[in-house]
Amino acid sequence: MVDVDERSRENRKDLIIGNWKMHHTHLDAIQVIQKLSYRLDLADYERVDVGVAPPFTALRSAQTVIEADRLPILLGAQDAHFAESGAFTGEISASMLAKLSVRFVIVGHSERREHFGEDDALVNKKVKAVLAAGMTPVVCVGETLEIRERDETSTWVAGQVTGAIRGIEDATNLVFAYEPIWAIGTGRTPSTADAADVIDVIRETLGPQGSHVRMLYGGSVNAGNVADFMAKNTIDGALVGGASLDPDSFASIVRYWI
Ligand code: PGA
Repeated sequence: MVDVDERSRENRKDLIIGNWKMHHTHLDAIQVIQKLSYRLDLADYERVDVGVAPPFTALRSAQTVIEADRLPILLGAQDAHFAESGAFTGEISASMLAKLSVRFVIVGHSERREHFGEDDALVNKKVKAVLAAGMTPVVCVGETLEIRERDETSTWVAGQVTGAIRGIEDATNLVFAYEPIWAIGTGRTPSTADAADVIDVIRETLGPQGSHVRMLYGGSVNAGNVADFMAKNTIDGALVGGASLDPDSFASIVRYWI
């Protein structure tokens, strides 16, 4: 049980996002969103901004159910191309996503960095494209186990943050997710103190804007550990992978104080 009233997060509302990765067809997506909505009530949405990021193929169906049922669930995408349009076979532009009422886009997830060769410069271009299309970039940063063991996590993460925001004057419309790579899908997590320390590094890297930006922790978050992370003032929410696929599990994560 977390005493949420003791936390002082200024005007940073809690934000809990489900990253479905390459899971759920558009038919599954409709069911999952509906079931999730049955388990949450208005008081939950008042306390927490709730987001889901389905695969591209499910976005239109997700949008339809969210709008038809007037659900206060934020729709997100897992990636976007940096160009407005063009000869980029297989890619999806930020403005195409915005047209589907997508509100946020995950950018620079470690799986994109690892399997699709995304570097800080590309992440930076994507962040700018997402902002230009009027959506919120959810920028993922985090270290490998090797970097952590070398005690270079802070420098590494600060470098990723600096790279992501290059040329962006106002970073207050961004969200950052600190996701240690060794904690993603492994069941392992850093201590809440370690997670909070790295998030404070992100805040410091952003300078005076840092205290206005929402910061999430991600990596093996589940219904059993989310409250511990949320008990840290500097952690405003969670980016949840595996445990967000099932609506019961995700609803218990959203209602972390119960
Ligand atoms: P996980 O994934 O919760 O399954 O560890 C988190 C993420 O990759 O965003």
